[in-house]
Amino acid sequence: MNSTQNFISENKERFLNELIDLLKIPSISADPTYSKDVHATAHKIAEDLARIGIDKVEVCETAGYPIVYGEKMIDASLPTVLVYGHYDVQPADPIELWTSPAFEPVIKATEIHPEGAIFARGACDDKGQMFMHVKAVEAMLKSNELPCNVKFMIEGEEEVGSENLGIFVTQNVEKLKADIILVSDTGMLANDVPSITTGLRGLSYVEVEVTGPNRDLHSGLYGGCVANPINTLAKMIASLHDENNHITIPGFYDKVVDLTDEERAEMAKAPFSLEKYCKALDIADVMGEAGYSTMERGSIRPTLDVNGIWGGYTGEGAKTVIASKAYAKISMRLVPDQDPHEITELFKNHFESIAPASVKVTVKPHHGGEAAVTPIDSIGYKAASMAYEATFGKKPIPVRSGGSIPIVAMFEKVLGLKTILMGFGLDSDAIHSPNEHYGLFNFYKGIETIPHFYKHFTELSK
Ligand code: BES
Ligand code: MN
Ligand code: MN
Repeated sequence: MNSTQNFISENKERFLNELIDLLKIPSISADPTYSKDVHATAHKIAEDLARIGIDKVEVCETAGYPIVYGEKMIDASLPTVLVYGHYDVQPADPIELWTSPAFEPVIKATEIHPEGAIFARGACDDKGQMFMHVKAVEAMLKSNELPCNVKFMIEGEEEVGSENLGIFVTQNVEKLKADIILVSDTGMLANDVPSITTGLRGLSYVEVEVTGPNRDLHSGLYGGCVANPINTLAKMIASLHDENNHITIPGFYDKVVDLTDEERAEMAKAPFSLEKYCKALDIADVMGEAGYSTMERGSIRPTLDVNGIWGGYTGEGAKTVIASKAYAKISMRLVPDQDPHEITELFKNHFESIAPASVKVTVKPHHGGEAAVTPIDSIGYKAASMAYEATFGKKPIPVRSGGSIPIVAMFEKVLGLKTILMGFGLDSDAIHSPNEHYGLFNFYKGIETIPHFYKHFTELSK
């Protein structure tokens, strides 16, 4: 382990410069304008994998963006770690809110990251975290201390639903044979409170359209006489939560797995300050489902949120009009054992049923995915826990996250493999927001911690 760690400390600056180069490419998967850049990013990662000594590096084409694959099989009798990550990023908008351009990475110190953080879209989600694995494996290879086999599978469509990765996984079960999946695409509680993510929420995402009259109308001539689709949509959306902030869709909670009192008590031990939470977000108070703490609301409970709503006149000044149509995009975060298809169906039936006769409603489903949980008594979790203990000097806390990585549930179903979520980001790193950043402490700590995982996982597998 010593020479691996030496190699890391001697190459820190180069690792950072390589990450900066990677962050300069705007690999936005949601916007076809950046198609060339997304492809270029895949090739850049493939080149780096080949350069560090990974074999059989391929840029696997799909119906969408390619999947970068590579492997280093040192001995078939040893365990195999399959590393998953994504090289695509979210759009940078609203760009005017960035203090420096999203694809011109700069290092700046912040209150939480006094040693500096790298500011760029994808710095934390997920280029910075994915790249830690490439550099950790490089360090183990260069110091002849890679203790087991490793496979890489880095995709370019995570932020748009991983549809083609799902197909790739189903068609390549043999190629992807491994003992554990290792992912850094989540977060931890704080730099001095290491934690391992033991759960992810699922997702059901829908778009709704409410149509009133067949054309936009004068709001004086027709106002008060016909349904205004925007008023109606607002009312319908408001009715989806009751006064306790429970979701009102019939059957929505039927399959939700409730935690035991012991599990909830265990969860409540994780440090959390409501005051700091509110202060960081500039809010006077939190809001959520009655009977649950903020930590619980954000991880073990399902949610329903409008992500966008539009219609009518939104330009300069005033235009007196009743719009013909109103729209909204709605996400529902799901927990075990809610089925995203079933929830989408329940939503659709309910939303259509509450529409007044004066409007027409259509519900269009988008991508979704199932929730996932990792047990904490597996050798994978134990190896991760020992790895964090080695580099942080503290045992990590198991924490369920509110975010989603839908492919994780598929890994279990199709490959029969559990995923270890060793995330090193912080909630305050502004992923998907303007000024996304990733602490240099976190980047280097990740690179240092990963080799310990390989070592302990190999030893515990014996
Ligand atoms: N890396 C995130 C998910 C995440 C972040 C999980 C932090 C836990 C902690 C991932 O890139 C992401 O953004 N996922 C999407 C879902 C996807 C289907 C678009 C999400 O959670 O909104
Ligand atoms: Mn991600
Ligand atoms: Mn993301």
